[in-house]
Amino acid sequence: MPRIAYVNGAFVPLEDAKVSVLDRGFLFADGVYEVTAVIDGKLVDNAAHLARLERSLGEIEMAHPVPLDTLTELQLELARRNELTEGGIYLQVTRGAAERDFAYPKDATPTLVMFTQERNLVDDPRAKNGVAVVTTPDLRWKRRDIKSVAMLAQAMAKQEAAKVGAAEAIMVEDGVVTEGSSSTAWIVKDGRLITRNLSNSVLPGVTRLSVLALCEELGLEVEERTYTVDELHEADEVFITAATTLVMPVTKVDDRIMSNGAPGPIATRLRQLYIETARRTSVG
Ligand code: PDD
Repeated sequence: MPRIAYVNGAFVPLEDAKVSVLDRGFLFADGVYEVTAVIDGKLVDNAAHLARLERSLGEIEMAHPVPLDTLTELQLELARRNELTEGGIYLQVTRGAAERDFAYPKDATPTLVMFTQERNLVDDPRAKNGVAVVTTPDLRWKRRDIKSVAMLAQAMAKQEAAKVGAAEAIMVEDGVVTEGSSSTAWIVKDGRLITRNLSNSVLPGVTRLSVLALCEELGLEVEERTYTVDELHEADEVFITAATTLVMPVTKVDDRIMSNGAPGPIATRLRQLYIETARRTSVG
């Protein structure tokens, strides 16, 4: 079955899905995106993803390509056309094609592109033993709260991780952890969870938000604050969250084996509960 993408109003085979070389997403990374997890063919936490998309668009004064409720229908139609039962839907909005000039063009029509990726989320084999991560310098710009497609610094960080066989890079700035290259980073110490407070320094993770709600349900104490690399290294448990990993236990940080090399109890419980909740609340 050919993969089907969505480009500016049309569902087309992936190889025919094209945008202009003058598209500002291509020339300036002038665009924003979202990745929504799909489980059982349904959209997980999608309302929060679309709310964040709306915020990202607003922060860069970019027009909506289509109304938000239409987007959900398009995402579901794309999943259906690709017979996607588990994985993700990637959605990108750019300012559109215009003569190359730095300031925003007045008359460009936004580009909307979507495609699907199959991925084992629930039975992700990495969850059994946990993943390795490495710390890398955070080389990014100062508006990381916007889910911009300018991802070169994250690609460089992920490549550093890949070179040493690690699954994720945990980015560090001035001695404190910001986040993973494509995930939110969490530590557990003495039964308390710690994750970075929201600011322009990190992306407001949608999975983070859902996990915070689960922590409240479970009566787990959470501190939203900065934490140092030393705290990361000395944590009882480490885990990451993202639409592409759900809750993923980390069992190695740099050269250190964490939680005796096995997924920690809190990460394990949160992963299980996140999946149960996602199945119950997904839309489709
Ligand atoms: N990335 N921080 C960064 C820098 C991210 O790129 C992501 C997600 C997250 C987690 O956000 P969420 O829980 O909303 O997925 C945090 C997506 C999955 C990606 O680029 O593939």
